[in-house]
Formats: sequence, C-alpha cells, structure tokens
Amino acid sequence: MRVALLAYIKPKENVTNWSDQFEDDTFAEWDSIETVQAVCDALNSHPDVECEIVEAIPEIALPRLMVRKYDVVFNIAEGMRGASREAQFPAVMEMLGIPYTGSGPLTLATALDKARTKEVLMHHGIPVAKFTTSKDTQTTLAKLLPEAEYPVVVKPLSEGSSKGVKNSSFVNNDAELRAEIQRIATDYNQQAIIEEFLPGREFTVAVLGNGANARVLPIVEIKLSELPKEANGIYSYEAKWIYDVRDNPLDIFACPADLTPELQKEITETVLRTYNVLDCKDWSRIDVRLDKNGKPNIIEVNPLPGILPKIEDNSCFPKAARTAGMNYNQTMLGVLKAGCERYGIKF
Ligand SMILES: Nc1ncnc2c1ncn2[C@@H]1O[C@H](COP(=O)(O)OP(=O)(O)OP(=O)(O)O)[C@@H](O)[C@H]1O
Ligand SMILES: [Mg+2]
Repeated sequence: MRVALLAYIKPKENVTNWSDQFEDDTFAEWDSIETVQAVCDALNSHPDVECEIVEAIPEIALPRLMVRKYDVVFNIAEGMRGASREAQFPAVMEMLGIPYTGSGPLTLATALDKARTKEVLMHHGIPVAKFTTSKDTQTTLAKLLPEAEYPVVVKPLSEGSSKGVKNSSFVNNDAELRAEIQRIATDYNQQAIIEEFLPGREFTVAVLGNGANARVLPIVEIKLSELPKEANGIYSYEAKWIYDVRDNPLDIFACPADLTPELQKEITETVLRTYNVLDCKDWSRIDVRLDKNGKPNIIEVNPLPGILPKIEDNSCFPKAARTAGMNYNQTMLGVLKAGCERYGIKF
C-alpha cells in the first residue's frame, strides 16, 4: 500500500537547537523533520506499507497528490494560513477522491475555532466553561460576560500547541483583560476567547477509532501542582515548551490518571460524546478540566494531536498509547488502520 505522509515541516533554521526553536512560536504547530521521519518509519515498519514524506507546501504537494499514485494519505498537515488551514488539504483530498486519515474539513475547521467548538458542544449538552469572544481593547468583563466572575482565561481564538496561551492568559481584573485582548490582537491578529477559569484537575484524553468503536486510551492527568507558581495553574506555552525541556523535564504527567471509577466513567463518556458529536475520525486528543463542582468540562479538541516520538518529549497521545501497551509504530499503524477501515482498504 502506497502511503503519503503529508506534513508541514519546521524550517531547519528553527530546529538547530532544541530550546531555540521555541523562542518564537510561529512554527509551533508544525512538525520537526525528526517527528515526521519517525512517523514515516513507524508506518514503514509494516511489511505492506510503502510510505513517503510529502511536504505540504502547495507547490510540492498538489502536483504529487494529483498524480494519484497514493492509496491513502496519512494526514498530519497543520496548515499554513488562515483559520481553515487544517481543513485545506483534507478538502483537496476529498475533491480528488483520495482516502486520508483523520478528521474531515468541517471537523478540523470547527476544532480550530474554540468558540465554534463550544457552541456545538453546548447544543448537545456537553459541559464547557462560560465564554465569549472579543477584539475590544476597551472592554470590561461585566460588558463581555456579565454572568462570569474573575479569574478568566484569555486565549487566541484559533491557535493550537499552546500558541498564545501564556502565563499572563490567567486574568484577574479588567486592566489585565484589556492587556491580554490587546496582546492577542497584536501578536496573532485575531479575536480573543475569554473563558471562565475552570479551577479543577486537568486531563488530556487520547481517542482512537471510529463511531461506536472509538475508544479512549489511558487518561493522562496534567499535575497542576507540579507547575511553577508563575504558570498560574494553566498548562501554558511557557509550561509546555520552556519549563519542560529535554535536559530538565517537568514531572507533570500521571498516566493512567488516578481516578475514582465514577470520574473515570464520566470523563470517558463526555470525551467520546464530544468526539462523535464533532464527527472526529480515527484519532484525536481532547482536553478536559473539572469545574468547581468537580464536573468534567471540555476545554478543546485536537483532531491532529501532537505526536513527538521520544518518551522524554512528553507528547500525550503517544504517552497514553504506550500506557495501553502500544509502542510508537503500533500507535501510528493503529491510526492508519482506523482510516483504512473507513474506506474499506485492506492491509
Ligand atoms: N477555561 C479554562 N480554565 C482553566 N484553564 C484553562 C482554560 N482554558 C485553557 N486553560 C489552560 O490553558 C491550557 C491551554 O489551553 P488550550 O488547551 O485551549 O490551548 P491550546 O494551545 O489549543 O492547547 P494544545 O497545546 O493542547 O493544542 C490548558 O491546557 C489549560 O491548562
Ligand atoms: Mg490544549
């Protein structure tokens, strides 16, 4: 089976030094060549798979896809431009009739917009924090979200990989609120989403498979007590990429999370409903936090989850899969298998 691994690869000058690459978050969502090669090797570990990397630069990828020499595309392309950037290649592949792994354009575009995602979830009665969006740098919380109280979290509306979720995103008053809306408008040229702060435990949940066969892998807890105080209880950009480095990793994860059977069940059910309501395909990682009543709320959905291959890089999807007994190769092949099953492709 001929597989194209479609990925945006971080420019080399940004990855010569592990800690340097995160000073500027421009390419934070993209994959390093190290990761892309590891995924390709994982897929090639199956005797029936012949995988090659296709860089998702339109000039390179479009002609190669149009020749239609691939049986399936393994899509990890995070996109380059615009709020529908993750949906663009899946839409092209649908147009060309090429099978691909992972969610479709509607799901990818929705999930990249944290407000749209929550609107859909609310419609289906899935708990989310109170929220609104704004670009108004003169506003107040009373105007924006009268039913909410400080603290709130202020984030870019349409980013991933913790881009723009800084320690300062935890906001306690109107002056900080305005400063954060301004920061997001200046640095990311987009609206901010303002959410009531969920004070409870935080989990991230990997899902593999489809529909009624989708299953949750062992739940990862982000031990907020292990974060430096300046992170303000949020798993911020600094926490993810600056405090937690290969030379000095943060011991921040527990997998499987220590949960009562009731909470385990409640998180699992909420996550699987979210996955299916948004029509996620093959795999996703869904972030959850408990509200003040201990109820799991959905923070956001990642239909293209991070998949750093090295254990010490603390990537949560591979971590959950490892706890379930799957090594990296088996995990990537599990995603490919889920995709192929949907299209009736045997391998
Ligand atoms: N409403 C909230 N209440 C409490 N903490 C929050 C809230 N929203 C976000 N956070 C914190 O900020 C972190 C990053 O937020 P979020 O997951 O929305 O950003 P992201 O950049 O899309 O993340 P990822 O790196 O998982 O793609 C969360 O893991 C959580 O710790
Ligand atoms: Mg997240």
